[in-house]
Formats: sequence, C-alpha cells, structure tokens
Amino acid sequence: MICLFPSSRIVCLLCWLFLILALVLGYIWWKPTKGGTNADVLPVVLWHGMGDTCCVPFSLGSIMSLIVEQTKGGYVRSLEIGGNVVLDWESGFFIHPNEQVEYVCQQLQLDERLAKGYNAIGFSQGGQFLRAVAQRCPNPPMRTLITLGGQHQGIFGLPMCPTLTIRSCDYITRLLDDAAYTPEVQSKLVQATYWHDPIMENKYRLGSTFLADINNELIINEFYIENLRKLKKFVMVQFLNDTIVQPKESQWFQYYTSGQNKVIQPFTESKVYEDLGLNKMHRQGKLVFLGVEGDHLAISKAWFIQNIVPLLLEK
Ligand SMILES: *[C@@H]1O[C@H](CO)[C@@H](O)[C@H](O)[C@H]1NC(C)=O
Repeated sequence: MICLFPSSRIVCLLCWLFLILALVLGYIWWKPTKGGTNADVLPVVLWHGMGDTCCVPFSLGSIMSLIVEQTKGGYVRSLEIGGNVVLDWESGFFIHPNEQVEYVCQQLQLDERLAKGYNAIGFSQGGQFLRAVAQRCPNPPMRTLITLGGQHQGIFGLPMCPTLTIRSCDYITRLLDDAAYTPEVQSKLVQATYWHDPIMENKYRLGSTFLADINNELIINEFYIENLRKLKKFVMVQFLNDTIVQPKESQWFQYYTSGQNKVIQPFTESKVYEDLGLNKMHRQGKLVFLGVEGDHLAISKAWFIQNIVPLLLEK
C-alpha cells in the first residue's frame, strides 16, 4: 500500500483518506462488465495498466463504453484483480504477475460468455500480462491479442513513473536499480519482475521471476510457443514519443543489444524471436506492429475507432 513508503504521519493520513475516497467512488463506478446484447461479435477482455483500475469512467470505463458502442452491444469485461478498487489498484504494484495471471485465468474460465473465445486488449503492463494469459491459459481461447504500450522485453528505467507521488517513484526506481533481482524485491514489486537489465543479462535471466519465464529465456517451454501460436493475430502498438517506457521499442518486442543500453537489436536477430516461436508467427503474418505518435497510452477516440475497432469486428 502507499503507506509502505517512508513518509510522515500527515502524508499517511492523506493516503488513508484517499484510499477511503477511492473505495467509495470505486463502488459507485464498479462495473467490470458492459454490453452483451450482441452475440455476433466476440467478447473483449481488457487488462488495465499500473496505477490504474478496471473501470473508472475517466479511464478504462470510457474505453469499455466506446467498445460496446462500436460493436453494437458486444460484451466487454475489464479485469479487476482482487475484490475492490483498492486491491485492484494495488495489484498493479504489489501482487506478483504469476499470481495475477493465475487469478485471471480462473476468472476467464468461470465466465461462460467467454467460452467460445475472446479478443484481448492490454494497457501498458497489462499487455505483457495478457500475453502470459495467452501462453499459460489456452482455455477459453484468446483470438487476437492487442497490446497498447506493453513491455514485452521489459524495461530499464522509469523516467516518468505514473504514480501518486514523486517520492514513491523515486523509491521504486532506487529499489529496482539496487536490488531488482533479489527474491525479496521480486516477490514484492511487480515492476521488478519485468526489470530487464541489458548490462547484466545473466542476472536478469536467473533473477526475473516473470518476464524471463514467459520469454523462454531460461528453458524453452514448448507449451508457451504452441499456445501463443494459436492467436489469430498479435498486434503490438508502440507509442512513438513514449516518455514512460524505456526503451520504447520494448512495445514492439525489441530490446537493447546485450551489454549496453543505447543500441536496439534488430527484432529478427534477437534470441526471443526464435525461442518463443515469434519467427514462425512473423512468417505467417500474425504479428502486427502499429506505431502511434504521442506519449504513453495517449490514444484518441478517432485512432481507436480507426485502428482497433476493425480488429475486434473481424470474423
Ligand atoms: C514523435 O516521434 C516520431 C518518431 O520518432 C517523430 O517523427 C515525431 O516528430 C515525434 N513527435 C513529437 C511531437 O515529438
């Protein structure tokens, strides 16, 4: 919780007041599902980013409404992790992605409306988490996966961290720089599990308890390759002027050439390209790379309607 960060009593009190307010507003706005009158269009599952929650109207709630409107009543489910707005918000920082993915897998299996399949849209870190769902949880089947600003190769740096206070941002960054791969930090801080230090690749490979696994970097998990390949399309959207994700190319599954943090390795030469079966998917035309001008998650309604909605309407 926010009060874990070193802070004075007054700041802590404000934190609690904020949490209580968030809980109250959360219950008013809490609508993790919308639509569902049009059975001809595949359901859509959303996973929010860090510092966000499933369904407040000024964030994912408005995207849910837009999808329902554009699909003429399609069923939309925005994933909430835990039972309330505070847990959902905290999950973005403090619940291990492996645990979250397992929870989501169960939730998806329990939702009968998804039984015949669904399309998925992940926002920021929700992108790589949904990819983990595709790889680890083949039922119900995910058809098209769209990641908006996902960090498929991890991050190295948090230049503009989107959280409540500069203080907690500094705290997180310092923690990651110093001790990202210690078991303690791995188990306590979500961002550590996809912290990808290109200068100490081995430390990353051995220490990352999430990303190194889903990217097949320790062992080649054939189950992951097989499941990912079941996708009809894997659409990766990169924000070309992103000031939050570093390097921004991670959004297109690219990363620094090992040993330094300046030069980006060409995608087709990367190890993960082969080890995760992305090469075959690429040849089959399943990988789609979209670029959009603007900062992290700065999508306009018009862009969404033009570029994302047609993917959701595909038969
Ligand atoms: C955003 O990035 C693109 C590609 O790097 C560049 O062409 C464009 O000028 C940038 N736009 C802004 C507003 O910085």
